[in-house]
Amino acid sequence: MTSPQKRPIHKTIPALRIWDLPTRLFHWLLAISITGALITINLGGGWMDWHVRFGIASFVLLFFRLVWGLIGPRYARFSQFVTSPSKTIAYIRVPQGSRHAGHNPLGAWSVLAMLLLFLFQSATGLFANDDVMTQGPLVQFVSNDTVALLTRMHRFTEYLLYAMIGLHLTAIAFYSVRGQALVKPMVTGDVPKHTLPSGTQSARDDWRIRLGALVLATALGALAWWLWDLAFNAPMSFS
Ligand code: HEM
Repeated sequence: MTSPQKRPIHKTIPALRIWDLPTRLFHWLLAISITGALITINLGGGWMDWHVRFGIASFVLLFFRLVWGLIGPRYARFSQFVTSPSKTIAYIRVPQGSRHAGHNPLGAWSVLAMLLLFLFQSATGLFANDDVMTQGPLVQFVSNDTVALLTRMHRFTEYLLYAMIGLHLTAIAFYSVRGQALVKPMVTGDVPKHTLPSGTQSARDDWRIRLGALVLATALGALAWWLWDLAFNAPMSFS
């Protein structure tokens, strides 16, 4: 009698849901929108309409994230991940050995800085124009001086954006080299349990949470529609 064929045993590593679906979708859609806005501004010409579209999308996504940071599940909440400067300094001194669910204390501050910088960039873009053929949707509501000032700011912070994105990707690569995989959790939402502090609770990511996010996204979709309409159908403020 032949011995029964041995099947490979695939052990599933116990994992906890840390990043809810709305936060993950936000992240990857924002990455696409910001990358799209940066590529199209450098292409210029006929691509400027797409720059405005990506800019509006970024603004609305960030608006979503700000609200989600107040009402979303555990690890998406600002109150959960933004820690005191003393805890952040303690983390910088002894980063090894300290385990964190969600953003670590240093990452949390960089996430906050990124969100604010991207929000500033997309908000100033709503009031910017290039005096040639492109203008932000809200230009008509402010004076020419304000438009000129906000356009200058919008141009200046573009360079900070490159620096911030470079820093973000370098940090992710640094943690990967040290054996801490961050990218997969931002895709699947799950983090292996043994890498988390004991007693870590998972984030809620059930249909109620997702429905709440959908309602919020639909409301913000109306905002995006309005901005879109103003950007492409309102008269130009320059001749
Ligand atoms: C223009 C491109 C990108 C932008 C604007 C961006 C922005 C952000 C923001 C705002 C967060 C915080 C998420 C939140 O709490 O809401 C974040 C986190 C994260 N991003 Fe990106 N991202 C970009 C590209 C990428 C890429 C290409 C990767 C993967 C290689 C990546 C991997 C991650 C990971 C793993 C986290 C979670 C970090 C942690 O666990 O603390 N990002 N990103």
